[in-house]
Amino acid sequence: MLLKVKNLSKSFNTRKKKITAVDNLSFEIPEGKITAFLGFNGAGKTTSLKAILNLLVPDKGEIYFDDKLLKDDFTPLLKQTGVVLESARNIFFALTPIENFAYWGGQRGLDKQTARRNGLELLEKFNLSSKKDTVIFKLSRGMQQIIAICCALIARPKFLILDEPTLGLDIEAVKTMEKILQVLASENVTILLTTHELAFAQKVADQILLIKKGRLIYSGTKNECLAKFNQEKIFTVKFLHPLSDKQEIGLKTISKVVLLADKTYEVTLFDKKSQGQLLQRLAQLELVDIKTKSKSLNDVVDFYMKEGNSYDDTQSGISA
Ligand SMILES: Nc1ncnc2c1ncn2[C@@H]1O[C@H](COP(=O)(O)OP(=O)(O)OP(=O)(O)O)[C@@H](O)[C@H]1O
Ligand SMILES: [Mg+2]
Repeated sequence: MLLKVKNLSKSFNTRKKKITAVDNLSFEIPEGKITAFLGFNGAGKTTSLKAILNLLVPDKGEIYFDDKLLKDDFTPLLKQTGVVLESARNIFFALTPIENFAYWGGQRGLDKQTARRNGLELLEKFNLSSKKDTVIFKLSRGMQQIIAICCALIARPKFLILDEPTLGLDIEAVKTMEKILQVLASENVTILLTTHELAFAQKVADQILLIKKGRLIYSGTKNECLAKFNQEKIFTVKFLHPLSDKQEIGLKTISKVVLLADKTYEVTLFDKKSQGQLLQRLAQLELVDIKTKSKSLNDVVDFYMKEGNSYDDTQSGISA
């Protein structure tokens, strides 16, 4: 494991009350994978990231990097980590990308030439070479975000932390971001990101961490998590005519049939093994359209966010 967080807690004392932002949180980040850290506004994601980066001191808890416990000195982690916190504020907006690379590379101990070379390489990789001499505030929001990531990557860190990398990005820019992150992961950069865009998380993440009110409520691989939620085989079927009673009874011997709208039904197999049988029966009817319905990360998050639902509930099959 590249990073291990153990029993992390952090409260803030405000004038009115004590806020428990992070509550005994433990999780692990495997090397070379993309982990999506999910949770509602105020769940404690940014606070956890700041504790990992030693930007705030937790009330309790331990951070291990490369299996070594970090105590007062976080240099081993900080040296190997690139960070973009919310809103790309880790770059100078009045400077150009190249000037930013020289500055941030310098901060990381690189000489100007190396910083420039690394930066240009990154710009090329992310198709932004033409903007190397344009001041940041003249670039689009998506481009600024990419330059911020380039600056975070300037010294080729093995760990990249991104707090809401898709904030304010349009669909095309989000797609670019997906590609960029996948390229980085394929080069064995470990990525921990927060996002509220679950479709984006579903595309890029290998691992999911879900927190609610500072507590971990789910952690596991995305594939496992989606598989658990897709144990049932569900079809949405549209027929040319409404089903007759006889036709409906025929389907109901092997599936649950629910009328969704005029001539459109949701058909859920009682047993996945009878899929062939169901398709045969459907083929004898006049079909207009048939789609498999699968649960998404959105359904997963909805399920866990409901009061009282926990990881164990998924073991016995999902009815959510
Ligand atoms: N410096 C601070 N002083 C007081 N309270 C704070 C401070 N920083 C965070 N909090 C509180 O801690 C809780 C967790 O905040 P945090 O920023 O970690 O949430 P988040 O999961 O990153 O949310 P979002 O998705 O909105 O970014 C919130 O209730 C927030 O108000
Ligand atoms: Mg946050």
